[in-house]
Amino acid sequence: MRLDDNALLVRLKELGVEVRPSVSLVEKTSLAIGGTTDQLLLRRYETIPEVMRLLADNRVPHRFLGGGTNVLITDGELPWIVLHLPAAHPGVQLDGNFAVVDASADLGGTVTFCAKHDLGGMEGLIGVPGSVGGALRMNAGAYGTQIGSYVREIELYRAAKGEIEIIHGDQIRFDYRHTSFAPDDVMLRVKLELPSKPYKEILAGIKVCNEKRRSSQPLNQKSAGCIFKNPPGGSAGRMIDELGLKGHRVGEAMVSERHANFFVNVANSSCADMLKLIDYVRERVRSSYGIELENEVIVWRN
Ligand code: EPU
Repeated sequence: MRLDDNALLVRLKELGVEVRPSVSLVEKTSLAIGGTTDQLLLRRYETIPEVMRLLADNRVPHRFLGGGTNVLITDGELPWIVLHLPAAHPGVQLDGNFAVVDASADLGGTVTFCAKHDLGGMEGLIGVPGSVGGALRMNAGAYGTQIGSYVREIELYRAAKGEIEIIHGDQIRFDYRHTSFAPDDVMLRVKLELPSKPYKEILAGIKVCNEKRRSSQPLNQKSAGCIFKNPPGGSAGRMIDELGLKGHRVGEAMVSERHANFFVNVANSSCADMLKLIDYVRERVRSSYGIELENEVIVWRN
């Protein structure tokens, strides 16, 4: 989608928004799949309500893109623009055992930054790619840790009210890869409370998690992490593996040879082929195990 209304472009600029025309979302997603559209960089949090009103008044469809590590985006010219909070480095402010983190900060970078200041607990999250905001929305987790356990306060844009709000962590439910945020809530900042731990100890934990991840996951290939959520008490990866589907392909979309719940983009896969592969695997698991796998990856269609 192209924004070509000059009055709108001028007003967006006044609100601190940078418009990047015709951006390929192949470059913005870990799967390297996605069409083309205009991208808006929202450089000033406080203007977000006004920017959102402006887009609504001008009937501009839009979606917020975080780190792009858990999303599968349709191909071609997209009928909506993408909004983006520019990444903050490090985007973390410490106050005793509290870390106030910008949603756009890199999750791994945040874990490392806190570790260097003797704040631990999040070692398991070290290799989870993406932004802190994305991790919050889906309650990212790994190796027995989930980010929701450490959340004390969240600053977010509540689209339903058109306002920025600060809410307590206990106002949100954090379940396995699911939260009670509204789909159009936009994470802006989070206050985490982390246990004190010597850096050396945290580092040792980080190393163990990194090794486990390296030995079982295809980290050097283009993927969105696990495609499906694990069903209660089960493992999607194990079932797909047992069905002999590692290496199964639709075009350039392939079930990883290393971890069967990772689907990789071998080279320039289309979204359509990745979706066909997802449907095929889901159907095979349904017919053999009677289990309907739920997507973990978020699919953006037209
Ligand atoms: N397994 C196989 N074959 C495979 C993959 C796994 O037999 O191809 C078996 C393993 O041997 C193991 C069991 O399945 O006995 C579970 O595998 P693993 O330990 O790799 O964990 P997972 O349940 O597949 C989950 C998360 C990962 C997270 C790891 C480590 C989900 C959907 N996945 O994977 O998170 O990194 O545990 O904690 O919850 C993600 O969410 O994107 C993700 C990568």
